[in-house]
Amino acid sequence: MQEKLQNLKQDALNLLNDVANLVQLEEWENKFLGRKSGELTNLMKGLKDLSVEVKKIVGQVANEVKQTLETAVIKKRQQLVVADFQKSINQEKVDISEPSLLANNLGHFHPNTLVQKNLEELFSSMGFLILDGPELESEYFNFESLNIPESHPARDMHDTFYIKDHKNWVLRTHTSPVQVRALQKYGAPLRAVVPGRCFRNESTDAAHEHTFYQLEGLVVDKDISISNLIGVMKELLRGVFGREVEVRLRPGFFPFVEPGFELDMKCLVCGGKGCGACKHSGWIETLPCGLIHPKVLEFGGLNPKEWSGFAFGLGLTRLVMQKYAIEDIRNLLGGDLRFLKQF
Ligand code: FA5
Repeated sequence: MQEKLQNLKQDALNLLNDVANLVQLEEWENKFLGRKSGELTNLMKGLKDLSVEVKKIVGQVANEVKQTLETAVIKKRQQLVVADFQKSINQEKVDISEPSLLANNLGHFHPNTLVQKNLEELFSSMGFLILDGPELESEYFNFESLNIPESHPARDMHDTFYIKDHKNWVLRTHTSPVQVRALQKYGAPLRAVVPGRCFRNESTDAAHEHTFYQLEGLVVDKDISISNLIGVMKELLRGVFGREVEVRLRPGFFPFVEPGFELDMKCLVCGGKGCGACKHSGWIETLPCGLIHPKVLEFGGLNPKEWSGFAFGLGLTRLVMQKYAIEDIRNLLGGDLRFLKQF
């Protein structure tokens, strides 16, 4: 039986040398290694009739033959695949003078990106830095450094996605964590905006997405007041809409500003009559803002007696909806080309 196995090995290897393509290789595999009626399988079926001692020796030879053939077939397959690939490259011809099928089908910026770029230009012209921050954020920067300790009820409004086995990391719920990161990195005085993607674990509707964009703004200097804040916000809205828009300011609570405000703009989708985009109130919650809380300045490494500042967290996605009169936020990430091609 050992001799039969060695002969089979030799025959198989000889035939393998003549295999010229993948179809022949498959036939070769079925013939020698096929599970049901391959020649090696058939030979190995005879092992059961041998005595225990002989079976041990012959079994080892059979395994060695099997491994040799299996290794050889893998190597051969690699050679054939590489040769096929090489052949197809050699045959490929590129006619660079042929008119492109894509000529009338070029991609373009997403409406969100258009408004973001517009705002980046506007703020750059006012001397602001454009900063970035991590989307996977530590709980410390997302909450604690913004004066939202673990048991604070404000965390309920920012339920998010936690990372399994990494309890202290979250998908950031807002761009505000970059306030403290930026102060720690650049110190004061500082003028910066931070556009970026945020995430919240909430049910979606016409005005809410689990993934949306904000643009954080931050100014820290000596003697900053609410008038500075309102001036910059008006400039922002004028820059985006190219005209004055009707706004209202009302008190708002955020643990990282004191005092805090909500700046709402009259809904441009319905002209203030009420629609899905403004939750039928006629007003869009667009620009929460306020004077930076002394504790946040301290977390940023500054002395609040010496420095003051304002911050705002623009709902960028909501602003995009206003600019282009989009009634349902879900269109923006829906990926429907019929929608996207309009911009
Ligand atoms: C915040 O996220 C604060 N970080 C904003 C801030 C910054 C306040 C600096 C003061 C100083 P709020 O949770 O309200 O606040 O969200 C800010 C804006 O993001 C909202 O006005 C809204 O326009 C937008 N927004 C919030 N949740 C969603 C959502 N699920 N889908 C789309 N837009 C959202």
